[in-house]
Order: sequence, then structure tokens, then C-alpha cells
Amino acid sequence: MAGVALLVDNITVEFGSFRAIDALSLAVDFGEVRAVIGPNGAGKTTLLDVVSGIAHPKHGRVIFDDTTDVTRSSESDIARAGIRRKFQKPSIFEGLNVHQHIAIGAQGGLRRSLLPGQLATRVDEVLEAIGLRDLAQRSAAELGHGQKQWLEIGMVLASNPKVLMLDEPVAGLTDDETERTVALVRGLKRADRAIVIVEHDMDFVEKVADRVTVLHEGRTLFEGSMAHARTDERVIDVYLGR
Ligand SMILES: Nc1ncnc2c1ncn2[C@@H]1O[C@H](COP(=O)(O)OP(=O)(O)O)[C@@H](O)[C@H]1O
Ligand SMILES: [Mg+2]
Repeated sequence: MAGVALLVDNITVEFGSFRAIDALSLAVDFGEVRAVIGPNGAGKTTLLDVVSGIAHPKHGRVIFDDTTDVTRSSESDIARAGIRRKFQKPSIFEGLNVHQHIAIGAQGGLRRSLLPGQLATRVDEVLEAIGLRDLAQRSAAELGHGQKQWLEIGMVLASNPKVLMLDEPVAGLTDDETERTVALVRGLKRADRAIVIVEHDMDFVEKVADRVTVLHEGRTLFEGSMAHARTDERVIDVYLGR
């Protein structure tokens, strides 16, 4: 697959009279890992809300896979199309084990159930990818914070998304857990998938992202490599600091 996985075309989002996103455009290619960074309130989560159908823009369009307009699609239709998101706060089901969580992710949004054999294979692949195979039978509630983040990524990954969005995947993780998440995210990269990551840990971003988009007050302030962002005067002024 080649081309634009996700095109955000000139969107504006308003909450009452407040403009959270202001004529923002963004194109993420298949095969790319894009980080969206910027100060609190810049509009990062709202952008993910628009792409996932939770918020609807006043103007503009969201185009998936070059041709599919999902601007007015429902959350469930967007998920079914292959645009999936891990939220900022982990949502673990009490009483279910790790394996069961991944199985729910694998079945989620499918029109037809997977056959038992297909499901078992898929769950196994995902457990391997997120490094939780040894904990498959463990109650998810007993996992550490980092493991819960990986489980959440696994639940999203299990449906084999074409656009995978991660909101703050390493917030609150130890340095060691963050390093493991670097390896995990690198392993998710595929020619037929785009990955969009919102994150404040700039070292993490530099290790995983092909390009970064810096948002400020609902607009794009900078787009390019993380290395370049670090030396951009405007980015330093509004976000990175001196
Ligand atoms: N549902 C909402 N109602 C009113 N204002 C909102 C709502 N969601 C977000 N905002 C405002 O929009 C701006 C962007 O928020 P958000 O996208 O959460 O920023 P970020 O994720 O970059 O920190 C903020 O000023 C926030 O207070
Ligand atoms: Mg946010």
C-alpha cells in the first residue's frame, strides 16, 4: 500500500465560541510514524477525536486511504474502516485476563466473528508483539501501569488497524518501560499502516517518529523531523523551552 493513509483537510473545530482547531491540515502516509506534539491545550486530543468520529469539525474533511471521506461517519464505522485509537487513560475490564482482553480487541468491530483457530492465532501474535505472552492468564487488573499500556496497545493492534492512533503511550512509564515501548512501536510499523502518536516525551518521539507535527493554538507551527524541531525557534518558544 502506498499513498496517504490519513488526510486531515482544513478542519476547524469549535466548542461554543472557542476555536480548538483552526483550519488545520495534515497528511500521514502509509508506512509512516507521525508524532503530534505541542503544549497543553494545543488541540492534539481534539484532533484525534475528530479522526475517530467523537468530535465533528465545523469545516473541513477527514479522508482515509486516499478516497474514503469519514468526516461525518460514526465512531463505530470509523473503527470498522480500520482507524483505531488507544486512549490516554487505560480502560481495563475488571475480572478479565490478558488473553481475554486481546480476544475482545481482535473481535471488536468485525461484522463476522473470527473462527476459534483464527482468533487463537491472532491473540498469540499480539501477545508476542506486546511482550505479555507469559502473563496471558494473569488478571489485567493486577498488571503494572506499563503493562496496562501495552495491553491497551495490544487490544487496538488485535484488529489489525490501518491507522493506529496512540494518545500518550509512555506517560507515567519508567525509563525501562519507555525503552520497551520504543521497541514495541517500531515493531508495529508496516507499509500498509500509518501510526499517529500524541506524546510529551521528546526522546521517545525522536526514537519512534519519522516526522513530527507541532500544534499550537489549533494550528500547525512546524512539520519535519524531531531533530529539526529541536532547533526551530518557534517550537522552542512555544513548547520545548530554552
Ligand atoms: N469538550 C470540550 N469543550 C470545551 N472545550 C474543550 C473541549 N475539549 C477540548 N477543549 C478545549 O480545546 C483546547 C484543546 O484541547 P485538547 O485537544 O484537549 O488539547 P491537548 O490535547 O493538545 O492538550 C483546550 O483549550 C481545551 O480546553
Ligand atoms: Mg491531550
